[in-house]
Amino acid sequence: MCGIVGYIGAQQAAPVLVEGLTRLEHRGYDSAGLAVLGGSGLKVAKRAGRVRDLAETLPKRFGGKIGIGHTRWATHGPANDTNAHPHSDTAGRVAVVHNGIIDNAAALRAELAEAGVVLVSDTDTEVLAHLVARSTEATLEQRTAEALARVEGTYGVAVAHADFPDRLVVARNGSPLIIGVGDKEMHVASDLAALVRYTTTVAHLDDGEMATVTASGFTTYRIDPSGLSATDRRAKEVDIDPTAYDAGEHDSFMHKEMREQPARAEAVLRGRLDERFGTGHLGGLNLDARELRAIRRVKILGCGSAYYVGEMGASLIEELARVPADAEPASEFRYRNPIIEPDTLYVAVSQSGETIDTLLAVQEVRRKGGRVIGLVNVVGSAIAREVDGGIYLHAGPEVAVASTKALTNMYLAFAMLAIQLGRVRDLSIADGKRLIAALTALPDQIEQVLATEEDLALVAKRLAEAESLFFVGRVRGFPVAREGAQKFKEISYRHAEAYQTSELKHGPLALISSQVPTVAIVPDDELVERNVAALEQIAARGGPLVVVTHAGVDLGDAGASAARIDVPRSARELDPILLTIPLQVLAYHAALSLGHDIDKPRNLAKSVTVE
Ligand code: F6R
Repeated sequence: MCGIVGYIGAQQAAPVLVEGLTRLEHRGYDSAGLAVLGGSGLKVAKRAGRVRDLAETLPKRFGGKIGIGHTRWATHGPANDTNAHPHSDTAGRVAVVHNGIIDNAAALRAELAEAGVVLVSDTDTEVLAHLVARSTEATLEQRTAEALARVEGTYGVAVAHADFPDRLVVARNGSPLIIGVGDKEMHVASDLAALVRYTTTVAHLDDGEMATVTASGFTTYRIDPSGLSATDRRAKEVDIDPTAYDAGEHDSFMHKEMREQPARAEAVLRGRLDERFGTGHLGGLNLDARELRAIRRVKILGCGSAYYVGEMGASLIEELARVPADAEPASEFRYRNPIIEPDTLYVAVSQSGETIDTLLAVQEVRRKGGRVIGLVNVVGSAIAREVDGGIYLHAGPEVAVASTKALTNMYLAFAMLAIQLGRVRDLSIADGKRLIAALTALPDQIEQVLATEEDLALVAKRLAEAESLFFVGRVRGFPVAREGAQKFKEISYRHAEAYQTSELKHGPLALISSQVPTVAIVPDDELVERNVAALEQIAARGGPLVVVTHAGVDLGDAGASAARIDVPRSARELDPILLTIPLQVLAYHAALSLGHDIDKPRNLAKSVTVE
């Protein structure tokens, strides 16, 4: 969603800011803008549409070596030029960019209007620019702190002021803000992606923290009711490959990220498998064997694909550890006044670690005294910092909106957690070893599935022709179907509905026709015969079939017409992840054949930071 960049140094700011904003495009946005501070004061350029439209229409005279920039995802007011950030005060001496939501914006707008201020936009952010401008405090830091003290809600914010032409002031409360230390220049961003081209030496602000950023360095403070107190935040080198944010030879980040899965899967498993005792070795959980044994229930919370992989995780935990487990959309959780039990382990799952619904669910659990661990990809993200322990996913930066490699690593993290929970209970050492061996084999097996991409592309092109599709599966296979449908609809914009195969005959079979294909998940497991019987019912009604299955499974009468996708067998319990991989490839090639922007599907954002 919204993105912030800032620059102060010896270069012209505008091109650096444009480059930074381009790197944030994947997060999703509807308008963009810049403010630069130069010899002739503060200049602002902003407009609805793409960053490149903004860059092409920048005024000729747009010089300045200090600047801030923003990509906006509309919350207060439609996406238009006026509502785009930066926002300014009436005299045009202050510019503010803001991520997050000011909950009391209406009251603040009314108060400012009462005082004679003419507000020109519909946004919550504009009030901040006026509040900073109206402050009579001596320093920009104090003026910004005074303005922020009036604000209820969340923010990552950057402020430029014509009266303080040697600095930017930035602050964070619930929305990421990172400072990058360059060579005689400093950068600011809401996401590492905007910085890595310039520097990998960064400082992450904490909630309630503010910083002054000049060309030569930065100073941090805590915003206390009594004023600003200095904090000792230092920049650290982050271990990140700067090419992680380049698609390289791939036509899209989604393609690159799908292809990275074997290597990334190895990374999440590395050092966490205990072959001798047939168990997982997850130090970051901060739970010893006795505490693990005391867990009576597991509740998994995530959104979208993270929720579907949570369902896969719940079934792994029930099967391997025989501990009751279920997954729930984090976006619904806190609204039903959930009962938090002391012997339940809560698990928050999030690639970005920023998803507001998941973060608020974590806070609800903790507020009621529950113990929550995180399966999170982005190190140091809000959810990672909020939880009692967890498993980092080591998927590397995921840029495409459609989650692939992070999702696979979520599954693998769940598998290790389930084995570890099982091994302090009744999962035998022999079964533990069998599962660890199967996990070790998975990266190569994922590669084998990806190697069939050309065949999958042919199937995908046919599926893309349909307006509406079913994805069906049973028990372990049902969350696979849900995730397959999610990926397909997200980037191909086709209506894809997931159903339990067993439920088809209770209603949806009425929709089956030659125009409505079904993608069926049919592993070689205890349900294979029941699944094949359902396929026959679909085939008998003329429904085109794509069956994701294992070699040797006899598809009966349905086999004659079905397109068959065989994936390698894993341990039976671990089959879901290999069944999921071809569905990513199908979605990708369907979207490609329809000519869609794969990495930036319409209406969607990579990190959903508003409710
Ligand atoms: C689907 C997708 C979304 C995310 C969801 C949660 O491909 O990417 O459904 O899974 O928005 O995001 P995170 O994992 O960042 O909390």
